[in-house]
Amino acid sequence: MNYYYITGASSGIGKELALELLKHKNNWVIGISRTQTIVHSAYKHIQLDLSDLNKVCSFSFSIPNDITKVCLVNNAGTLGNIKHVGSLNAEDIITSYNINTIAPSVLTNAFIKTYQSVQAEKIILNISSGAGKNPYDGWAVYCASKSALDMFSRVIHEEQLKQNNPLTGFKIMSVAPGKVDTAMQEQIRKASSNEFSNVNRFIDFKDNNQLLSPREVAIKYVKLLENSSAEKDAIFSL
Ligand SMILES: NC(=O)c1ccc[n+]([C@@H]2O[C@H](COP(=O)([O-])OP(=O)(O)OC[C@H]3O[C@@H](n4cnc5c(N)ncnc54)[C@H](OP(=O)(O)O)[C@@H]3O)[C@@H](O)[C@H]2O)c1
Repeated sequence: MNYYYITGASSGIGKELALELLKHKNNWVIGISRTQTIVHSAYKHIQLDLSDLNKVCSFSFSIPNDITKVCLVNNAGTLGNIKHVGSLNAEDIITSYNINTIAPSVLTNAFIKTYQSVQAEKIILNISSGAGKNPYDGWAVYCASKSALDMFSRVIHEEQLKQNNPLTGFKIMSVAPGKVDTAMQEQIRKASSNEFSNVNRFIDFKDNNQLLSPREVAIKYVKLLENSSAEKDAIFSL
């Protein structure tokens, strides 16, 4: 059986990815987020606030007897408050880094530790962002947190190449989805132009139907998870 752990499976990209994977009878999906919105016989929900690092650190992955493939999709993310640095709230800075960078790093470490001697196909997919490569005013913490996730992925990619063990190795990819029509984009469109100078461009993306649907993005991520050996790089966009 294939086991997919997906953070942020309650809405947007993560939810569509879970629903797409649940169409295949050999797949189990374990969703991790604060709210549960999927009910399915092959779906298990784990209620977890990823900003609560004590709980994230005590999270454990299981090793079922019938495991042939196991994937961790670090998808949950937050933009935090869209404001220039100097106007940010300290708590919000910490929460955003915890959700976007610290929790995926802790979960990835636990994932590799749990499955390193298990012979199965093992994949870590981090949902990154173009904002991790390009600066956007008002998004400092989000940009920095996604950039960190990219570099964390690149290092693991190098480590796995050095270990060079096809039986026990892990595949890691940090993949940006493009602009997707989710709650996150709604939040962006509500920003003030003083805090985010590009807000009108993002309003136009929506008005001109230039946003991708979460479902089409999910289908591309499923293809990637089903054929991950074709990808040689750790960092890319869909
Ligand atoms: N939409 C885009 O245009 C776009 C572009 C580039 C990258 N991305 C990335 O794509 C990923 C998914 O975003 P989306 O657009 O699908 O956003 P979304 O619809 O807002 O979904 C965010 C998900 O993250 C979960 N989440 C947020 N805070 C959490 C917390 N404290 N603990 C646990 N889970 C939490 C939410 O679940 P709960 O609220 O139930 O906890 C929800 O399932 C993110 O990493 C985002 O950075 C999106």
